[in-house]
Amino acid sequence: MNDKIAVYPGSFDPITNGHVNLIERALQIFDKLIVAVAYNPSKTALFSVEERLEMIRIALKNDPRMTVASFNGLLVEFVASQGANVIIRGLRALSDFEYEFQMTLMNRKLNRKVDTMFLMTGYKWFYTSSKIIKEAASLGGSVRGLVPEIVHQRLKDKLPAYRNVP
Ligand code: PNS
Repeated sequence: MNDKIAVYPGSFDPITNGHVNLIERALQIFDKLIVAVAYNPSKTALFSVEERLEMIRIALKNDPRMTVASFNGLLVEFVASQGANVIIRGLRALSDFEYEFQMTLMNRKLNRKVDTMFLMTGYKWFYTSSKIIKEAASLGGSVRGLVPEIVHQRLKDKLPAYRNVP
């Protein structure tokens, strides 16, 4: 039987423990998961795509069931090019809902063979987002425990106010 493959796309700027939790959940359902970092020229990022890919690889300790990749252009085209037909997205609070539905319906219009599956992060991570992590860290607030250790370290290199956070 063919392996069940899913793609988990996102900005991952940077990867958080909420993302890690979702990846672990997805790997209980799928044989193979492709974590896909989007090149998004309209979003100003803290980390380069290459830095994000490296942090994901380190955080996930090279699990053989998982591939880490980047993509340009349409997500559905990337998904099809990987021989997959499922997109995984995380849902946290209600505020995610509208944006996620818009994206799902657009992706469905673009390729009817691709479906989006929503997974809920562990409730511990319900209010964790890359955006809020960056905001707290840029002001010197510790985000240790909310992000993988490698992210905590790399934030020190990026953000002067974070340099001395233990
Ligand atoms: O982590 P994010 O920023 O919420 O992820 C958004 C992402 C990367 C999944 C989304 O922007 C995306 O799919 N980008 C690729 C471009 C695309 O396919 N757009 C059309 C579908 S809305």
